Amino acid sequence: MIFRSLPMHLALFLLEFALLTPSVYSSSIFSRAVQQTHRIAARHTKEIARDLRLAFGAVLVSEPIQQPLDNGRTIYCKSGAVAGSSGGGQGNGSAGSSGTNSQGTSTSTKSAAAGSPTASAVSTPWKLVEAHNGSDFFEGWSFFTGSDPTHGVVDYLDENDATSASLAYINSAGNAVMAVDTTNNLADNRKSVRITTNSQYSQGIWILDALHMPTGCGTWPSFWTNGPNSPADGEIDIVEGVNDYTNNQATIHTNPGCTISSSNSTVLGITGTVVGGTNCAAAETNNQGCGVRSSSDVSFGAAFNNNGGGVYASKLDDTGVSIHFWPTGQVPSDVLAGTPNPSLATWGAPLAQWSSSGCNPSTFFSDHSAIFDTTFCGDWAGEVWSDSGIPGQEQSCAQRTGYSTCEAFVKADGSAFTQAYWEVKSVKIYQYQS
Ligand SMILES: *[C@@H]1O[C@H](CO)[C@@H](O)[C@H](O)[C@H]1NC(C)=O
Ligand SMILES: *[C@@H]1O[C@H](CO)[C@@H](O)[C@H](O)[C@H]1NC(C)=O
Ligand SMILES: *[C@@H]1O[C@H](CO)[C@@H](O)[C@H](O)[C@H]1NC(C)=O
Repeated sequence: MIFRSLPMHLALFLLEFALLTPSVYSSSIFSRAVQQTHRIAARHTKEIARDLRLAFGAVLVSEPIQQPLDNGRTIYCKSGAVAGSSGGGQGNGSAGSSGTNSQGTSTSTKSAAAGSPTASAVSTPWKLVEAHNGSDFFEGWSFFTGSDPTHGVVDYLDENDATSASLAYINSAGNAVMAVDTTNNLADNRKSVRITTNSQYSQGIWILDALHMPTGCGTWPSFWTNGPNSPADGEIDIVEGVNDYTNNQATIHTNPGCTISSSNSTVLGITGTVVGGTNCAAAETNNQGCGVRSSSDVSFGAAFNNNGGGVYASKLDDTGVSIHFWPTGQVPSDVLAGTPNPSLATWGAPLAQWSSSGCNPSTFFSDHSAIFDTTFCGDWAGEVWSDSGIPGQEQSCAQRTGYSTCEAFVKADGSAFTQAYWEVKSVKIYQYQS
């Protein structure tokens, strides 16, 4: 929490800048990327702020105590080993070992494009325990109504208000939509939605199948998981970026002691690029964490949307944390079938991976819920408003919009936010049940 209010932000930044190894800074492009990531990191002070609120018994008191499986939504629990707030649902995590359970019975209703893989159920120890899809998508989530911990120009609506404002609904295709207010010339903040699953798991696979995500100057959408106490319970940012970015950035934030062994993608066995440091500790990196940018230019924003969306899978088990992304049409058949059986052969290399060798999952991650939000400006989107050079944002938002500040643009030009919505086919959570 020391880095929350910090006018010292800049000083810490410079200190850290000086401490980083010279090799990291041998490339000015890389240096630039690190600077960007620093601003990015500011996003995660949201969790610090959340801690403060909990500590002081303020705003978040109104947030329901997290209870798993309490809402009558579609729950799949074949073994009775359901999640609990004390970290139930942990598997033994030996991903890739062949399961001996009977064949999964799920079938996919996804209408895959021609030439794309078809769903094919396989035997897997990863069992579906929670599915958010179809007309009851919003069951099992809590609508967050506190002020944005990342200082965005945003007001998060409760479920009733979001529903009556048509900012949270199921569309005619049966997909969940989370949109934002598009009124012009607001005097105040722009309305949006932030939801958190009531369930918590200390290990698992979270799979997001989305057709559309918020995009455009001023926006800052994210889909992530974290525990009730951050950074102690860890945070895994699965989908995140700002403005017109086209390449996703996945990041973890932890307590001290969690590192990645290299910033070399080949060594790490990942398709993405390490854009931050290799120390994932929030407190030791000014909350920068270990960020990895996807090499896929259809992994985020308008490019993701124009390409028909895709699927993200975040796996947290004894082997570590890994995140995969597949554009629509390239999703492995086991994932389409709802019987995920992760292996290099079936899933390919992850875009990002934080191995247990440098970061013991049981030490650094616990009781994770999944969260969606769309905020505006604030600690990241606002900070990089006048910057350019990130994939998708070759020109700065200040240039593109003609507004010198993010806040002025977001309040004035509601019609710019018609694309600032999530359209989600499903969020499914799997547990290892050998
Ligand atoms: C983990 O493995 C141990 C030993 O094989 C077993 O007793 C236990 O039930 C397993 N736990 C889970 C959650 O699968
Ligand atoms: C939701 O997911 C479950 C589990 O995969 C599946 O059985 C069900 O058909 C899905 N419902 C819809 C409406 O897609
Ligand atoms: C990354 O590691 C590979 C394999 O060890 C090596 O061949 C390559 O030169 C390294 N790349 C950089 C930029 O150091």
